[in-house]
Amino acid sequence: MRSLRSGFSLASALTGLATLGALLAGATAPARAADAPLRDLAAAKGKIIGSAVNPAKLTGTYGDIAGREFNSVTPDNAMKWESVEPSRGTFNWAPADQVVAFATAHGQQVRGHTLVWHSQNPGWLANGTWTPAQLSTVLQDHITAEVGRYKGRIAAWDVVNEAFNEDGTYRSSIWSNGLGQDYIANALTWARAADPGAKLYINDYNVEGVNAKSTALYNLVRSLKERGVPIDGVGLQAHLILGQVPSSLQQNIQRFADLGVDVAITELDVRMQLPSTAAKLTQQAADYKAVMDACVAVSRCTGVTVWGFTDSDSWVPDVFDGYGAATPYDESFTPKPAYRALAGSLGGGTTEPPGDGCTAVYSVVNQWNSGFTGQVRISCSGGALSSWRAGWTFGAGQRITQSWNANCTQSGTAVTCSNASYNGTVPDGSSVTFGFNGSWSGSNPVPVVTLS
Ligand code: XIL
Repeated sequence: MRSLRSGFSLASALTGLATLGALLAGATAPARAADAPLRDLAAAKGKIIGSAVNPAKLTGTYGDIAGREFNSVTPDNAMKWESVEPSRGTFNWAPADQVVAFATAHGQQVRGHTLVWHSQNPGWLANGTWTPAQLSTVLQDHITAEVGRYKGRIAAWDVVNEAFNEDGTYRSSIWSNGLGQDYIANALTWARAADPGAKLYINDYNVEGVNAKSTALYNLVRSLKERGVPIDGVGLQAHLILGQVPSSLQQNIQRFADLGVDVAITELDVRMQLPSTAAKLTQQAADYKAVMDACVAVSRCTGVTVWGFTDSDSWVPDVFDGYGAATPYDESFTPKPAYRALAGSLGGGTTEPPGDGCTAVYSVVNQWNSGFTGQVRISCSGGALSSWRAGWTFGAGQRITQSWNANCTQSGTAVTCSNASYNGTVPDGSSVTFGFNGSWSGSNPVPVVTLS
């Protein structure tokens, strides 16, 4: 699969394409069947490949991919305190139950997330006035209720989430302020009592490399082990920035493993400044591969969970201004280079699925005050297609109003165009063009087109 960005001029796009086509002709593999799903590749290596999932979305294409590609799921929000117990003693298990049922139906593990955190707590808890004894009881009751409900059905719990500051001191929170540092040991002990079969983790961010924060976590785990407190693993969230995988990642995983605990990458995403470009997507693939490679290299690293598998369902754009495109699938559910990098790291073929050797070039053919005509030319050289889908994300509010020689749909900013009945076949050495009219205002930037 190739992504290309063209200029506005059709002539220059075609000249560029001809040159690129000539360059690619000798370098690309012939079209071949798609690789095995990630979960099959991971299972062959004894690893987990998971995703955070939103229970409300587990149908249609989203549900198909979640079930097909992953052998573990983590509810993105459904098991957090504010979701589960919005008012005291009133539980709302339905969304969490949905994730567990989906996992059961698809032979997947569930990672429970999360029991003790400073964030996403209900108002009655966060704003309540508690004596230490009351707070301790509230916490024990919560852990006992939630872990107990899913006893035997959760492979691993993120019992404690984000306990540290960047400098390695304990974060100030309702828990550390009210109960002191031993809330961590108590929470682990209560969780063990409620489900002796679940692996119990402490989870945090910015602890992927060796640094002050990860060293504080390391010292905590060592002391918990020494004291006989139940602790089975450490979760490295891995919310990473493009090109910034810490070089000490594998060493850091190894030092935790050497303490006698498992390590899981629990929330991987690699955010980039928007708009995404082919070069950024290539760097992102290298970053995903570096993380999976480090996990594969350490036997006690259980696997990698991505924090959402599609750019249409990622927390990144909501939280990190100007950043996005952080997951392995784009907004139209087309696998990105990062997806193939994960597959490659798990031992899958590094050659590309059908469409390999085929490129798509988007150009604006004509533009007037509020409308424009665009086209996409799909050309194959050293590959061929028997059916195709071209997808892209409009960056400036453009909307497709009409299309020809393809069936185009737009959902939000995501456009997907699939072949018409008569032009699905693109033989080696030939091309197919489809067109559309759209509306624009302000600017009309050319998007990156991904073929699948
Ligand atoms: C995020 C969710 O993805 C968002 O939908 C929500 O609004 C905020 O929380 N670290 C964690 C996760 O442990 O629970 C967070 O999930 C992302 C950062």
